[in-house]
Amino acid sequence: MTSLFRRKIITPVAPEDQLARTLSWPHLVALGVGAIVGTGILTLIGVGADRAGPAVILSFVIAGAICSCAALCYAEMSTMIPAAGSAYTYSYVVLGEIIAWVIGWSLMLEYSLVVSTVAVGWSGYAAPLLEGLGFPHSLTQGPPLGGIINAPAIFIIAVVAGLLSLGTKESATLNAALVVVKMLALALFVIVALPHFDAANLHPFMPFGFAKSAEMGPDGVVVARGVMAAAAIIFFAFYGFDAISTAAEETKNPGRDLAIGIVGSMIACVIIYILIGVTAVGALHYTQFANSPDPLALILRQVNQPIVATILAVSAVIALPTVLLGFLFGQSRIFFTMARDGLLPEGLTKVSKRGSPVRITVLTAVLVAAIAGFAPIDAIAALANAGTLAAFTAVCVCVLVMRRREPDKARTFRTPFASVVAPLGILGCAYLFFSLPTRTELYFLGWNAFGLLIYFFYARPRMTGAEA
Ligand code: ALA
Repeated sequence: MTSLFRRKIITPVAPEDQLARTLSWPHLVALGVGAIVGTGILTLIGVGADRAGPAVILSFVIAGAICSCAALCYAEMSTMIPAAGSAYTYSYVVLGEIIAWVIGWSLMLEYSLVVSTVAVGWSGYAAPLLEGLGFPHSLTQGPPLGGIINAPAIFIIAVVAGLLSLGTKESATLNAALVVVKMLALALFVIVALPHFDAANLHPFMPFGFAKSAEMGPDGVVVARGVMAAAAIIFFAFYGFDAISTAAEETKNPGRDLAIGIVGSMIACVIIYILIGVTAVGALHYTQFANSPDPLALILRQVNQPIVATILAVSAVIALPTVLLGFLFGQSRIFFTMARDGLLPEGLTKVSKRGSPVRITVLTAVLVAAIAGFAPIDAIAALANAGTLAAFTAVCVCVLVMRRREPDKARTFRTPFASVVAPLGILGCAYLFFSLPTRTELYFLGWNAFGLLIYFFYARPRMTGAEA
């Protein structure tokens, strides 16, 4: 019986199984910002305001700081181990098989549910436009909102999966163009709404306190509230930079390009979100846009800018697919790596003539579309966060372990003050996890318990990626 903690050795992949190296750092920064800025800032800012009041600004700062610690650790690990699979692969190399399994299983939750969440968020913006053209309302909402199926969400996943199957480089270039649209729309929001800033809107600043506690909001609903409860949801808005590290095998110069891509896109997003958060809670009292399906457009309408509101909404519909692209890309690469390690059927590892893993992409798209068609957005976003927090924690642990185990190994990128930054990342992720709704925490534990059953009875005998 081999050890549960046997570690993977990275071996060169057979040429016919290799992904094409087509990406350089501008693609990666665009992939990162494209994957990060999305439903979190456009939609979940309303949920965050509902949970924390104007202090949602603090939630942004806290979630951003924790993500920055994790991003710095990702940059070190992804340049040391520039292989597909992200936190799953780092855990396999550094911490051992069973930890890698739990992280891979958590990453499946993260990437799948992010794609589903963002597709539902996209549908939220697209639905009013489609209904204006006569599309039936019952086909634009899943059962949680009284509809039959969320057809637009399924449609957009199919489009993005098609793009990815055509080839990575083409998709990443289109992605870069759409990132510009998204950034311009957000800049427009700040320029138009900031002059309406009224300090009176910031009172009371922290109506539900700091730590998570079950409280009744202005709408009479009791849920986990407080700055940390909001931070645990808003956290969704910050991740996506990890999708860049999944592109390691397709990057021309991974040592340099990955570090620039990860750290650059993280810093840019922290600044953008703080600006938007301050503008939003200053322009309109939070109770008026809390839980809105389109909070930023609503704020613009309320400050009498309906045309700008429409421009923002249309831009969201055009540009949100960049987030889908980043995560569907990442998910297919994680499935790909796990399949190559013997965990999924080998046939799935085949790449097309253009170097894209088409079968995995299609399989992933079908799964996430099924969830997007029927599931409620808030629950899937929270569960995606739980999976992500597990992965981030593992990457921070990997940095600490490698600093001790192989202190002299060459590192293209060194996490600054790693002995402080990595523990802060671990503690911050743990605090965010315990600030999630209790039901989400239980679902997450249930998902991993189920995963471990599969590990022991199916995957373990088939895993081929580790040393014996
Ligand atoms: N950070 C991504 C978003 O906000 C997942 O949509």
